[in-house]
Amino acid sequence: MSAIIIDGKARGLALRTDVAAGVADFVAAHGRAPGLTVVLVGQDPASAVYVRMKGAATREAGMVSGEHVLPSDTSEAALLALVAALNADPAVDGILVQLPLPRHIDTDRVLAAIDPAKDVDGFHPVNVGRLSAGLDALVPCTPAGCLLLITEALGDIAGKEALVIGRSNIVGKPMAALLLGQSATVTIAHSRTRDLAAHVGGAEIVVAAVGVPGLVKGEWIRPGACVIDVGTNRVTGADGKARLVGDVDFDSARTRAGWITPVPGGVGPMTIAGLLANTLKAARARAS
Ligand code: GUN
Repeated sequence: MSAIIIDGKARGLALRTDVAAGVADFVAAHGRAPGLTVVLVGQDPASAVYVRMKGAATREAGMVSGEHVLPSDTSEAALLALVAALNADPAVDGILVQLPLPRHIDTDRVLAAIDPAKDVDGFHPVNVGRLSAGLDALVPCTPAGCLLLITEALGDIAGKEALVIGRSNIVGKPMAALLLGQSATVTIAHSRTRDLAAHVGGAEIVVAAVGVPGLVKGEWIRPGACVIDVGTNRVTGADGKARLVGDVDFDSARTRAGWITPVPGGVGPMTIAGLLANTLKAARARAS
């Protein structure tokens, strides 16, 4: 079998086009565009690239992009004061504090200070709890994008065996909650799981989100499974050149899977599209 390669780039672009149309309707109805403000503390080059990409995508969708870049020695109190100001600003519908934060700042305290109605990352405990309880919530963008790709490939996933590899708050746990919300039978594997190969072998849906290059071997995969690779790992090839690889060994996995996302060009483009969708959702909820 040769897997269908899921084109996350095309799907992400389509979602961004839908969001842009929704933004135009919002502007017509409310006389202002939705606003997303991103806060970056420090100089991490990868984070700076993501923040630039998020700003460009926000403007391209017709929304107002705000950006605060703070020095890496910014105090927690100063960051909390900025978050409070953004919470109070009626032109700001979405607030995203780029992670990771410098070690002297308590990330949980900062995330909990964001108004849950503006929490477009879906990381505030209120949104985490609402997702877990099956209530309407702002949902983390990456797992929301993964679920879209999965349901477009498979249709109804009720009763399907789903394996989430990784238990992060950003991807693994919300992914499991979303799959459960669709009535899949969900297993979460993690670094202490004893027989990962056996779990992968039983899964009709595999979402790998651990950041270990090539962890999931093709021969483990159940033939026909839908494999979603969230890993974005920078490795140096035999030729000395850096390249991005996922958590799944793509070349072997594609010979057994039914559907598979490539890295890059799979899940990544869905994340920014999901962020824009969340910002529009937050703006609509705040305007109603
Ligand atoms: N750093 C890596 N991924 C994310 C994300 O989804 N949101 C934020 N705020 N920071 C991140």
